[in-house]
Amino acid sequence: MNRRLFVFLLLVTMVVGAAVAAQEQDSVCNGEQWLDDGGKHINAHGGGVLKYGDTYYWFGEHRTDHSFVTLVGVRCYASKDLINWRNCGVALSVVDEKGHDIERGCIIERPKVIYNKETGKFCMWFHLELKGRGYDAARYGVAVADRPEGPYEFLYSQRADAGKWPLEFGERELAVVDTLNEANYKKWWTPVWRKSVDEGLLVKRDFDSGQMSRDMTLFVDDDGKAYHIFSSEENLTLHIAELTDDYLHHTGRYTRVAPAGHNEAPALFKHNGTYWMITSGCTGWEPNEARLFSASSIWGPWTQHPNPCRGPLAEKTFGGQSTFILKLDDGRHIFMADIWHPRRLSDSRYIWLPISFEGSLPILQWRSTFQPLIDK
Ligand code: DGJ
Repeated sequence: MNRRLFVFLLLVTMVVGAAVAAQEQDSVCNGEQWLDDGGKHINAHGGGVLKYGDTYYWFGEHRTDHSFVTLVGVRCYASKDLINWRNCGVALSVVDEKGHDIERGCIIERPKVIYNKETGKFCMWFHLELKGRGYDAARYGVAVADRPEGPYEFLYSQRADAGKWPLEFGERELAVVDTLNEANYKKWWTPVWRKSVDEGLLVKRDFDSGQMSRDMTLFVDDDGKAYHIFSSEENLTLHIAELTDDYLHHTGRYTRVAPAGHNEAPALFKHNGTYWMITSGCTGWEPNEARLFSASSIWGPWTQHPNPCRGPLAEKTFGGQSTFILKLDDGRHIFMADIWHPRRLSDSRYIWLPISFEGSLPILQWRSTFQPLIDK
């Protein structure tokens, strides 16, 4: 090819590429690639959205093509219409210091950011697994920034609520816990084992070192109190833990939801005074049937309801797994989920659906396209 022709073709490619990249999209196309302002598939998996001012910020796991571990960190994108997203880069970066909690090669999952009005800080919480330890560490991590898009400064990571019993454990429950011994329950999933987990077998096991903390979300209530909701006790039981006023620590007050129920991927919202939680079962990257719970107090008791999904693949959450529920200014809620592609996690897709009500229960009706700020 002569040089002139080459330069011409290169220019054409660049102009067409830029035009495609800059093209505005008019709806969310569920399960498709979702391009950012640079024309690249959005890389913000297991994420959540925060509105600050007139802008929405989407935070999520930067996933790579061939690895399960975190090689980059947490990404941030910004949008005014929840459809077209500007890539704001890496909000929280892994580090190269050997032995650091967020050393490159650790696993950072399901980051969520909330804004603290009192301190003016953006507080990021995430599930953290230490480098080289698989999913053994089961910690949460906390990072903080002065601007929504970061950069976030890593503060600490640890297990949850060491030395604290759940709120509902009174004298009677503690007397039962006292009798529990892990050595007596070598076989899982038997009725006696399930009963012992329900009674606090694993809470007791991890009482001194802290409770396991994996899949997670954050929820800020109308009164400004914030809560960390996470899969604990070997992913068998969800914990809801209250945060301190600065949103940077647990207060030590927590409750357990669905003991031995095996829930992951919690996402929470509040509607007309009722707290609703959507979760998944535990099948790794494979989709399963969504679960729905409600309570009139964040501290429970929580009641389980039937699967809220309607439409094709409703029994598998449309091929996805819950990650977050975004509240819009008009009071409506958007359900966010991930369709995981474990062979190439960076290409994992997204599902965003409006939450509507059927009688007194929330439902998720499948739709392939969605305009978040317009469609009801
Ligand atoms: C299911 C969890 O929901 C995901 O966040 C991730 O941890 C995968 N398991 C890993 O298998």
